[in-house]
Amino acid sequence: MTPIQSNGYAVFFDNELKELQIFLDNSNYSKVFFLTDMNTSEHCLPLINQFLPLLDNYDIIEVDPGEENKNIDYCIGVWQNLLDFDADRNSLLINLGGGVITDMGGFAASTYKRGIDFIQVPTTLLSQVDASVGGKTGIDMGNIKNIIGTFTQPKAVFISAEFLNSLDERQIQSGFAEIVKHGLIADKAYFSQLKEIKPKSVTSEIIYHSVEIKNKVVLEDPFEKGIRKTLNFGHTIGHAVETYSLKNDKKPLLHGEALALGMICEAYLSNQHNGLSEEELTEIIQYISSIFSPYKIKSGSYPDIMNFMKNDKKNNNGEIGFALLTEIGKCDFNIYLEEKQILDSLSFYTELNS
Ligand SMILES: NC(=O)c1ccc[n+]([C@@H]2O[C@H](COP(=O)([O-])OP(=O)(O)OC[C@H]3O[C@@H](n4cnc5c(N)ncnc54)[C@H](O)[C@@H]3O)[C@@H](O)[C@H]2O)c1
Repeated sequence: MTPIQSNGYAVFFDNELKELQIFLDNSNYSKVFFLTDMNTSEHCLPLINQFLPLLDNYDIIEVDPGEENKNIDYCIGVWQNLLDFDADRNSLLINLGGGVITDMGGFAASTYKRGIDFIQVPTTLLSQVDASVGGKTGIDMGNIKNIIGTFTQPKAVFISAEFLNSLDERQIQSGFAEIVKHGLIADKAYFSQLKEIKPKSVTSEIIYHSVEIKNKVVLEDPFEKGIRKTLNFGHTIGHAVETYSLKNDKKPLLHGEALALGMICEAYLSNQHNGLSEEELTEIIQYISSIFSPYKIKSGSYPDIMNFMKNDKKNNNGEIGFALLTEIGKCDFNIYLEEKQILDSLSFYTELNS
């Protein structure tokens, strides 16, 4: 597959990571570090060792897995490890993991000694189709996701579908929600194609096309001033419910599960306020509901969910902004809605699933 050219770097699609070996052969780094979490150390490092037998001189920085650890304390741990292992400005950090690792590793690298090179080797479906391009790095603070971060481009990204073999089905499904979003906002034919397959049979070609869609958008608008906001479809409500769930549920929603819910609510808002037809609304709801189980939004949780939405860093002057569809495959942005209209979509979702 031809590499996708992004903002000054390439995204390589290559199951056996030969391109990564070539990249390392052609570079002259003083030290190479892998940032992993416990799961990617167990499941993904062995593949690195298998595919890149010549790469034997590296240090591993391992953190605990999970969104709850994408924070400044763990980031200090990464910086401290880099210092302890004598990482200089000519060192390379390879982020081997899901979006938590690629986001936090990208942030740690972009700030350590005013910035060292890093590359991304995303190992979840979500991070391959979404976090792989766009240059966003970051960590969470308190309840607010990704509130501290930078726009910094990696030196390269290497995507291998082989990593997905050890991912559980729930994680695959979660990543699939972002793929569905790509179809909904930008490519109706792709959306129709997705309806023919199951998330677990996702192919490299599908991952490739999703990265193409996202890449086209982020190249046009690297700093999210305009069209990049369409990538937030489903996320205004999805993020708020995800944050609520992380704080309150014993088994919190995964990002893609919250996004699936958010896409239903925001498809409803698209129908109410942005011209999406009733037929397409029904088509979207039926498809998403055929993949994702419903989530019970307790009515007592609405004030908290609204507060999380108000804190979203994508808001302007306190107004809550949405990206809404006009039809499947076309999306507008900068649509500001009143609290009552937003609450109405939560009630719609609740009634749909009662
Ligand atoms: N920078 C961006 O543009 C961007 C885009 C989308 C999402 N994100 C961020 O990505 C994060 C979510 O990413 P995620 O869903 O990948 O979560 P994650 O990184 O927490 O990974 C999910 C789980 O899968 C495990 N795992 C990872 N790869 C594995 C593998 N190959 N086999 C077995 N287990 C594996 C991880 O250890 C973790 O337990 C969020 O923090 C989100 O903000 C960033």
